Amino acid sequence: MRARVLLILALVVSILALTACGGGGKTVKIAILAPLSGDVATFGESTRNGAMLAIEEWNEKGGVNGSQIETVVEDSQCSAEAAVSAANKVIDQDGAKFIIGEVCSSASIPISEIVVAKGVYQISPTSTNPSVTVDEGGNTKSSVFRACFIDPFQGKVAAKFAIDNLGAKTAAVFLDQGNDYVRGLAEVFIAEFEAMGGQILVKETYTGDDQDFSAILTKVKDANPDVLYLPDYYSTVNLIAAQAKEKGITAVMLGGDGWDSSDLDLSVMEGGFYTNHFSPDDTRAVVQDFVSKYESKYGARPDALAALAYDAANILLQAMESAGEADPAKVAAATESGKFPVVSGDISYDAQHNPVKAAVVLKVEGGKVMYMDTVAP
Ligand code: PHE
Repeated sequence: MRARVLLILALVVSILALTACGGGGKTVKIAILAPLSGDVATFGESTRNGAMLAIEEWNEKGGVNGSQIETVVEDSQCSAEAAVSAANKVIDQDGAKFIIGEVCSSASIPISEIVVAKGVYQISPTSTNPSVTVDEGGNTKSSVFRACFIDPFQGKVAAKFAIDNLGAKTAAVFLDQGNDYVRGLAEVFIAEFEAMGGQILVKETYTGDDQDFSAILTKVKDANPDVLYLPDYYSTVNLIAAQAKEKGITAVMLGGDGWDSSDLDLSVMEGGFYTNHFSPDDTRAVVQDFVSKYESKYGARPDALAALAYDAANILLQAMESAGEADPAKVAAATESGKFPVVSGDISYDAQHNPVKAAVVLKVEGGKVMYMDTVAP
């Protein structure tokens, strides 16, 4: 008799547990698209970690609108082709209507076109090229957002910092024509640097496959500019900076958010500066709270990619909660009109779905990345 009661009790308990775990409960699916392999794999790892931390926190609090959040993660490799197939897969096969990603502008732009055509919602944590949220005709893509500032601002901050803080009068700029982010940021830097009275002595292009930069570095050596602007990702600037050092180039190296990686080669970048979205040294409580939660979960300090992915997930989920249902168009409307007090700043959206927020300037010094300055728009 006792055994039978115990058995029935055990059955009831396991049915209850199953229901609480989502067996039969409502769920909402969110896809995370990020480069988890290849040249910039640290970007993907940080992005996934940051987004997952936010989503787990929401699930622990009971989910969003009573639904538990399910995730599907795809390696979109920071490339247009991989991103297109990853986006089609998560939408058509997994049934995701919400996408966090991609990291790189060249991948986020093609995803945004699919998203618009299929009525899906996208928020890129870190893609800074203006064309992610705005089409060629200048129209804002209705369901596409980002959690970061855009390159016209970032490039201006770098040019102004070079002139005002470094006293630079001349610059050299290297760019990869085939990369939307790199090309866009280089163009802004050149225009702003010249508009502030600076002179561009060298402007050279390379392609994504190049490994040997000695020919264009010789031109820099001969021109001897005050700064060398390198608006590419860490894997490429590591190569360029090592070869520049070998050549004895003394120009101060300057870059953008693409340098942000635990794999940035700090020895060859020594004395360099870069613009970024976030510093874990920021003393604001909201930042330090996030840093300690992230550290205790992953055993590493969060970079800007982790912080912005955490922010992007929180913006999406807060908007979904205020929309009251997981409908992409309604969540987009709630994003447009919402106020989001997230880690990288208090965000609200302009007409082009870009948050208005500050940038930080960081310095590579003594094998460390040091916080220098915060620049408001
Ligand atoms: N801003 C870069 C792009 O648009 C991506 C990036 C952001 C990389 C932040 C590193 C850190 O492609």
